[in-house]
Amino acid sequence: MPRVIFYTATTVNGFLADENDSLDWLFAAPGGEGGDDDFQRFLSGIGVLVQGSSTYRWVLEHEDLVAHPEKWPAYYGDRPTWVFTSREQPVVPGVDIRFASGDVREFWPQIEESTGGRDVWIVGGGDLAGQFADAGLLDEIRVSIAPATLPSGKPLLPRSLGADRLQLIDVRQAGAFAELTYAVSGPPS
Ligand SMILES: NC(=O)c1ccc[n+]([C@@H]2O[C@H](COP(=O)([O-])OP(=O)(O)OC[C@H]3O[C@@H](n4cnc5c(N)ncnc54)[C@H](OP(=O)(O)O)[C@@H]3O)[C@@H](O)[C@H]2O)c1
Repeated sequence: MPRVIFYTATTVNGFLADENDSLDWLFAAPGGEGGDDDFQRFLSGIGVLVQGSSTYRWVLEHEDLVAHPEKWPAYYGDRPTWVFTSREQPVVPGVDIRFASGDVREFWPQIEESTGGRDVWIVGGGDLAGQFADAGLLDEIRVSIAPATLPSGKPLLPRSLGADRLQLIDVRQAGAFAELTYAVSGPPS
């Protein structure tokens, strides 16, 4: 059974991006472009990516991917990418992008089948990770906390999860970042 891991960078006060989807606060932090050994180890266990449409559109537009599909992030690689959206979206030529809309439970068998026996990376956003948590499908939250705060923005995980569902299993310093890993259980039946 593949594990479902929400792995993301966040500000100290729990935002994934500012109100305009900017990640300038992340790239301004030393090491904010990512790619340390631990991240590479994480990636080696990942078979499929899942993201919401804002996350998909940000990278699509930021890199002009329709015109330049070769700029599809190297660390995404050729893994299938599931994009949850209720709207028609541009497709990046040559990239295995699969669109889904509605209850994550309905799509779980297909997502699971596409993993090739490896784990699922929920890239973002926070509400989509929350939908997996609501469905009892989220196994792990891994947050890499940047030395930054924002007055407002896109929330890390807009849900109420407490100690009954979250267990701290790892704490690590990665340069300027603090990385916390939580095992997620439940929800209670
Ligand atoms: N800090 C980091 O490392 C990091 C990581 C990932 C993302 N980000 C950024 O954080 C921001 C996240 O944006 P966000 O909070 O708006 O979240 P998002 O999950 O990227 O996008 C949310 C949108 O996805 C669609 N969606 C979500 N669940 C759906 C479902 N079950 N069925 C159909 N459609 C569904 C909806 O839009 P439509 O139906 O209208 O398409 C929804 O408004 C982005 O700016 C992204 O670039 C940062």
